[in-house]
Amino acid sequence: MVLGSTGSIGTQALDVIAANPGDYRVAGLAAGGGRVDLLARQAAEFGVEVVAVADASAVPALKEALRAHGAGPVVLGGPEGVAEVAGWQCDTVLNGITGALGLTSTLVALKAGRTLALANKESLIIGGPLVKRLARPGQILPVDSEHSAVQQCLWAAGPDGYDPSCVKQLVITASGGPFRGMKREEMADVTPEMALAHPTWSMGPFITVNSATLVNKGLEVIEAHLLFDLGFDRIEVVVHPQSIIHSMVEYVDGSTIAQASPPDMRLPIALALGHPGRIPGAARAIDWTMAHTWTFEPLDDAAFPSVALARHVGSEGGTAPAVYNAANEACLDAFIQGNLPFLAIVDTVAKVVEEHQVTPADSVEEVLAADAWARARAAELTAGHSR
Ligand SMILES: NC(=O)c1ccc[n+]([C@@H]2O[C@H](COP(=O)([O-])OP(=O)(O)OC[C@H]3O[C@@H](n4cnc5c(N)ncnc54)[C@H](OP(=O)(O)O)[C@@H]3O)[C@@H](O)[C@H]2O)c1
Repeated sequence: MVLGSTGSIGTQALDVIAANPGDYRVAGLAAGGGRVDLLARQAAEFGVEVVAVADASAVPALKEALRAHGAGPVVLGGPEGVAEVAGWQCDTVLNGITGALGLTSTLVALKAGRTLALANKESLIIGGPLVKRLARPGQILPVDSEHSAVQQCLWAAGPDGYDPSCVKQLVITASGGPFRGMKREEMADVTPEMALAHPTWSMGPFITVNSATLVNKGLEVIEAHLLFDLGFDRIEVVVHPQSIIHSMVEYVDGSTIAQASPPDMRLPIALALGHPGRIPGAARAIDWTMAHTWTFEPLDDAAFPSVALARHVGSEGGTAPAVYNAANEACLDAFIQGNLPFLAIVDTVAKVVEEHQVTPADSVEEVLAADAWARARAAELTAGHSR
């Protein structure tokens, strides 16, 4: 099942599957409803049983496009239709939906007992305790390249598997984004076009801007804490502009194991889909006949305070990570539409986080209420801004 099939992760997942005919069957697809022709083409190519769009008003156009492409799957509309696809009979659900909207699908897929190939980190981060309570060990396979790298480094740990007491720290790498090396004041006039031009990865718009503010790295630190059960003091971030080392695990004896490959999301996607095997030729390997230089530098926390803020909300737990994420998503929308200066994104998130009264996040309703409050508060704080 591929959720978010028309996006950056979804289309690359379908590339991996198309390159391995006979090994995988796509049972169904879900998307927002913004690209119905692409969705219908995918449905026809993979002969799926069911297709859903979150925007129910897109259903008539989707049905017409499906007819034009000669496909006749079950068609579902609305967020409940997407949730039905998330729980549809299959082995693995790839959640490539963008943002907090992916939470329901993550919960439904886990409840249905599916293996969850998780690109939608936001659902784990905002629903932390809820998601962790539902997931059995090994049920979530990370698709984020850094966490896929950590997972591979942990698999390499030894014959007895993952022993947290042998791990000194996780080292999460960051490309540094398009503004690496800049001081805060130099980023005052950053435009959406500049923030959307990532130096090493081609991704959807939200995660690309999140990589420019380094909020994405902050989210990944919380994601690593939740996936691998290590304290925030044992999760380091290091800037590695070439994006070849995707993360590392440092062991207590001084040994560090790193995972390296050219930046290509098809590798972590293939690893999650093919688990416990590896899919031959899923992505290009490093060319060892060429000279390479890989560099590492510390993160500039003064220029990019988003990672320290993420550590703070992650340590607070409860609804705090949901508020960090939701305030950020609201600010991203405003920034991409040209209604908010770049630096105001993280400044606003920090203000919303500071005002929030944290509660335990023991129910979906509690998480969604905190999410809604943070979006509304961020909108109030940013109203009237223009770049
Ligand atoms: N792209 C990467 O390289 C990358 C790397 C690591 C992690 N991730 C994570 O993967 C997730 C997806 O990122 P992306 O870059 O692939 O985003 P994207 O290119 O913007 O694609 C988002 C997908 O979600 C669909 N969608 C939107 N709202 C939906 C809803 N309510 N229900 C169902 N589907 C919905 C979109 O459909 P429409 O086309 O109809 O709008 C689209 O198919 C994010 O959580 C991101 O952080 C991405």
